[in-house]
Amino acid sequence: MADGTGESSSRTEAALRDSEALWREVFEHNPVMYFMVDANGVVQSVNGFGAAQLGYEVDELIGQPVLGVFLEADRPFVKRKMTLCLDDPGRSRNWEVRKVRKDGSLLWVRENAKAVKRADGFLVLIACEDITERKDAEDALRQSEMYLAEAQRISHTGSFGWRIATGEIVWSAETYRIFEYDPSLEPTLEIALERTHPDDRAFVRQLLERVARQQANWDVEHRLMMPDGRIKDVRAVAHAVRDGVGNLEFIGAVMDVTASHRAAQDLSRARAELAHVARVTTLGEMTAAIAHEVNQPIAAMVTDAQASLNWLRREPVELGEVRQALDRIVTNGNRAANVIGGIRDLVKKAPPRKDAIDMNQAVSEMIALTRAEISGSGVSLETALASDLPMVEGDRIQLQQILLNLIVNALQAMSAVPQERRKLRITTAHAEPAGVLVSVQDFGPGLSTELIERVFAPFYSTKPGGLGMGLSICRSIVEAHEGRLWVTANEPYGAVFHFTVPANPPL
Ligand SMILES: Nc1ncnc2c1ncn2[C@@H]1O[C@H](COP(=O)(O)OP(=O)(O)OP(=O)(O)O)[C@@H](O)[C@H]1O
Ligand SMILES: [Mg+2]
Repeated sequence: MADGTGESSSRTEAALRDSEALWREVFEHNPVMYFMVDANGVVQSVNGFGAAQLGYEVDELIGQPVLGVFLEADRPFVKRKMTLCLDDPGRSRNWEVRKVRKDGSLLWVRENAKAVKRADGFLVLIACEDITERKDAEDALRQSEMYLAEAQRISHTGSFGWRIATGEIVWSAETYRIFEYDPSLEPTLEIALERTHPDDRAFVRQLLERVARQQANWDVEHRLMMPDGRIKDVRAVAHAVRDGVGNLEFIGAVMDVTASHRAAQDLSRARAELAHVARVTTLGEMTAAIAHEVNQPIAAMVTDAQASLNWLRREPVELGEVRQALDRIVTNGNRAANVIGGIRDLVKKAPPRKDAIDMNQAVSEMIALTRAEISGSGVSLETALASDLPMVEGDRIQLQQILLNLIVNALQAMSAVPQERRKLRITTAHAEPAGVLVSVQDFGPGLSTELIERVFAPFYSTKPGGLGMGLSICRSIVEAHEGRLWVTANEPYGAVFHFTVPANPPL
């Protein structure tokens, strides 16, 4: 019995020793730093791994205040945490804190601590892991997020994501700022549309429905209207992408282009005004010429008419004299008419330059300059520029002047038609035998057959502020380039102005 007991107790002791060895093994080699600290904060025990992580030998730490391995600034914090543990034994607590190695380098650790009661008082058991890499990654992420947010703010560009399957939408801070919503509000299509200008809402909604259906990328400019009536111009660009499980998602950017639009608008207005001033100046020159040239035949006509009246009062009537005077009136009348006709020659006066011009480029430049004016008139623009066009020879500014006049006329012509009809189409094509054809097509009221030639006459205008010189000048320019300018009816409504410029005009 006694033997049996002795045997069993030595087996128990052996088992205990094995178990302790096992736990010591775990304690020593587990890649976790273990500390045991007494109630005064003095290190009672530390595992080899823990000491090595901090660059110490185990003996160097035992008997030392544990606070010595923490960053000085963090020591009060650790002290508070330890007190909390001691106040509530058995409960474990976590915290993240910075430690300092023997060589002075820093590491971030996450500690798990708990106070336990021992015969000789309380001990705090601390297990901690190195989280420096995670902290660095978090810092890097925070840093790059900060850069991104700053870049978005500076460039007035927000970003967004839109998962079609779930309808889930995310906005960046700048997107919230552009839409002027509180960042706590959940983004939805409805709140985005609510800020969309009422006139643009239907078309934006249709566009979104279409791209969601067709899974197509999109790039659109439209207006926003803030609750106080302020208007913003935005451009939204998005790409359709597939997420990990193949669901459609749009990732995009929304830019507040109000300021750049306004600048472009001012520029094109300035340009249009300049063109107008140039026209008025030309007109000033012409008025003097007209006054001078026309006065004379008119005076002669009046004299001849008075003479005829006198001949007719004679008894017998001097019909021969009357006939001669009437002949002279006809001649002088024609002369006066020719003077008016000569106005176009006057405009032609300055010889055009002979540059090699890429017409598509000239057209694109003009479109860029007038884009703000076009969208400001509620007109949507389509362009179709033919490839492989020959270069043409001529005066770039003058040719662009034609485009400007035609675009402005088209916008003015469409100002009274319903918004959905306001469409401007600008195309370039090959012209026979060798040249370029440019067409500007609108969907305004168009021109009756009777007007189709008359509109090119100087001073023909139906506009309150119009000089009626635009088309006349365009025609002079085109003809100086040996090209042709004409207008046809657009189907089902509107007008198409066409002009050609030969590749190598015999200037
Ligand atoms: N696209 C168009 N659609 C319908 N009518 C047009 C169009 N373009 C021109 N017209 C008509 O032709 C007229 C003459 O145009 P033109 O450009 O020569 O002068 P304007 O536009 O009236 O004045 P401005 O000298 O300031 O350009 C216009 O007043 C208008 O009645
Ligand atoms: Mg005009």
